[in-house]
Amino acid sequence: MTSSVSIKNLSLDFGAVSVLKTLNLDIEDGEFLVLLGSSGCGKSTLLNCIAGLLEPTAGQIFIKGRNVTWEEPKDRGIGMVFQSYALYPQMTVEKNLSFGLKIAGMDRSEIERRVARAAGILQIEPLLKRKPAELSGGQRQRVAIGRALVRDVDVFLFDEPLSNLDAKLRAELRVELKRLHQSLKNTMIYVTHDQIEALTLADRIAIMKNGVIQQLDAPDVIYNAPRNLFVAGFIGSPSMNFLKGTLVADPGGIAFETNGARFSLAGYRTPATLDAGRPVLLGLRPEHIRVNEEGGAVSHEAIVDIEEPMGADNLLWLKHAGHTLSVRVNGARRFSPGTAVRLSFDMAMASLFDAASEERL
Ligand SMILES: Nc1ncnc2c1ncn2[C@@H]1O[C@H](COP(=O)(O)OP(=O)(O)OP(=O)(O)O)[C@@H](O)[C@H]1O
Ligand SMILES: [Mg+2]
Repeated sequence: MTSSVSIKNLSLDFGAVSVLKTLNLDIEDGEFLVLLGSSGCGKSTLLNCIAGLLEPTAGQIFIKGRNVTWEEPKDRGIGMVFQSYALYPQMTVEKNLSFGLKIAGMDRSEIERRVARAAGILQIEPLLKRKPAELSGGQRQRVAIGRALVRDVDVFLFDEPLSNLDAKLRAELRVELKRLHQSLKNTMIYVTHDQIEALTLADRIAIMKNGVIQQLDAPDVIYNAPRNLFVAGFIGSPSMNFLKGTLVADPGGIAFETNGARFSLAGYRTPATLDAGRPVLLGLRPEHIRVNEEGGAVSHEAIVDIEEPMGADNLLWLKHAGHTLSVRVNGARRFSPGTAVRLSFDMAMASLFDAASEERL
């Protein structure tokens, strides 16, 4: 596969502050890549460098094999959609869509064809004669996406396009964006700090922290095999449970011990050597702990502290060996606070991190 966008050793400093640090990233043709990270980690800065709105301090950017590092934004073959819709308030939706093409001197029949196509894809045909003030937030954001669509570009850049919308609309437009990508198959680079958007939309997610990509992988790999403690804690809601403890020798092989409770690690797959005595963190997702079920080599007693029924799921907060564990069970299963339960653990789905380096073992 060819690379659609290729970023080589990209650095960007604002004065003395280094925001992007020798960053490398190859985005495949037709890929939906999500840049995910907390506020201030450099997501927009990276996207703006790709768009040509910011000049990098060092490094190069290639789009379709062409070095565009010093090209004007309009010459890069990209379309950008921002969080704020930035529509022209005095123009109708139709004019908002066609304006840029007209300025570029495109002929009228081609403009009409492109506007009609974009309006059809985004289902905004009935809105073409309205002005932005007469649209809902979701409709305005669709028009903003339409403005990128009519340009017929190779690469779409999105900077948190859904974050101004309420939760229900956000979920709806998320599905529409996914459908849009499935039908257009353009390369899309999408910035968000919302892990659900990242997990649902991405072919691959690049998780960033302080201007450095921590992991670049498919969503299920990021979720199930996070490379370090930061990624493990960032993805998943509620967060993965982390237990601080030590690796110990056990008749059944190597085990994990915390506050006197011992967990067999049989079933945990790792290329690393697990040496007794090493301080580690054991990471267990809420859905990988079972309550009062048969099977599972390890069985521990815990006390229900709180339950949070969520409809389909019931989230239990349990006290176990000096830790509070969150555990997800089927919503039909209810537990009163104070009840004693037996826990078993799905160690094949667990994560172990070295306590000092915070890297996955
Ligand atoms: N023009 C600027 N001058 C100086 N510092 C800047 C400038 N623009 C951004 N920064 C800093 O660069 C860092 C990265 O900013 P950026 O906008 O890329 O973050 P982000 O990941 O998009 O965050 P958010 O999720 O809040 O949008 C931040 O610490 C920010 O304060
Ligand atoms: Mg940003």
